[in-house]
Amino acid sequence: MKLWAGRAGGDVDDRLSAINNSIGFDSRMYRQDITGSIAHAKMLGRQGIISEEDAAAIVEGLKGILADIESGALQIDMTCEDIHTFVEATLTQRIGDAGKRLHTARSRNDQVALDIRMFLADEIDRLTALAKDMIAALCEAAEKHLETVMPGYTHLQRAQPITLAHWLMAYAQMLLRDIDRLSDCKKRTLVLPLGSGALAGTTYPLDREYVARQLGFNGISLNSLDGVSDRDFALELLSALSILMMHLSRFSEEICLWCSWEFRFVTLSDSFSTGSSIMPQKKNPDITELVRGKTGRVYGDLMALLTAMKALPLAYNKDMQEDKEALFDAIDTADLSLSVLAPMLRTAVFHPEAMRQAAAAGFINATDCADYMVKKGVPFRDAYGVVGRLVKYCIDRGTTLEALPLAEYRDFSLVFDEDVYAAIDLLTCVRQRNLPGGPAPEAVQATIEATRKKLENG
Ligand code: ARG
Repeated sequence: MKLWAGRAGGDVDDRLSAINNSIGFDSRMYRQDITGSIAHAKMLGRQGIISEEDAAAIVEGLKGILADIESGALQIDMTCEDIHTFVEATLTQRIGDAGKRLHTARSRNDQVALDIRMFLADEIDRLTALAKDMIAALCEAAEKHLETVMPGYTHLQRAQPITLAHWLMAYAQMLLRDIDRLSDCKKRTLVLPLGSGALAGTTYPLDREYVARQLGFNGISLNSLDGVSDRDFALELLSALSILMMHLSRFSEEICLWCSWEFRFVTLSDSFSTGSSIMPQKKNPDITELVRGKTGRVYGDLMALLTAMKALPLAYNKDMQEDKEALFDAIDTADLSLSVLAPMLRTAVFHPEAMRQAAAAGFINATDCADYMVKKGVPFRDAYGVVGRLVKYCIDRGTTLEALPLAEYRDFSLVFDEDVYAAIDLLTCVRQRNLPGGPAPEAVQATIEATRKKLENG
């Protein structure tokens, strides 16, 4: 039985139901649908639009339905058109005629807009908690590796010395911005569309502000056409999640690289890596490859909804039913990715010696060597030229700046002295980069503390 069976005569074709029904996915919003209806019914009673007794019966009935779904006593009927139909039909079965009054002054168009906003606000809170846990895991690892020198790269070429802590905290900053974007998007999500009706509002004297307050919304929508057809908040969430996944995929890519024998900067715990069915020596970073791969799904979800919304005339169109699967998929993917990366990171073992070796063999202290000459009065451009020749000389002889004897340094310039070795010591080079935001251990420690403070306050 369809809610709209009055207008159309006869049964609908199964193939219509197959494309039209949304209960297969929108049943996920049962809690929001029921909670929203409770607020609506209370307001109808308060405003005298339905009797207080009917309102009370509806509220009790809805509470019972919610409890029964949650306990498993009531199964959602997957042959219904959508979750709204199921809840209303079940309510009427249980409490009789009063149930039929619930939908007074409401349309499924403003109802579904309400449900999805409530659902997304809840999911934003959950995803924020997961992202915070990942940031906490990054801070924990960073604190252990404040002095673990490694090469920083540009163009994937060893460039200048940094520490593992500095690298980890870069990702923490990205995730902090992701959390910010989620909370910003939540503000615009919590705007109440109920009262927009099908598209043109309603003649009943609703108290929209009262409903908004009951549901914890920030305010009400100010145009009924926009109220039922706005999905910007959903697109904002998909954009925020796409950016979040982009960050996770960059992190994942680096972990994949670092697990290779060419790098060997990290070993993942056995419980967070897989093997090969044919190559006994293999231990694969499947998790990070999957997160990298799943990023594409979330971008796809964003593009799917952007494309569905493009050029839609006002107001509600059934195209908009397509919002939910894209949103659910993106939310589930971000949830899964954050949930698995945090414990993977907490159980991973980093290899400071391998990082240090890579740093030493990379001439990443060449800039510092040039700066040493500058401090002794050589113009930077000249120092740059001398150190360039020195590096070439070392490469030709298979040695490093640290190991080159002073006599050979002095063949290039007489400003070199014993103190050059202290100046180009990798940890010294890192320690000297101690501006706020730099890789020096105390600068990174300050970043860790500032990050933790944001986690507490945000
Ligand atoms: N299942 C629909 C959706 O997700 C609910 C709104 C239906 N409205 C309508 N006029 N058929 O968008």
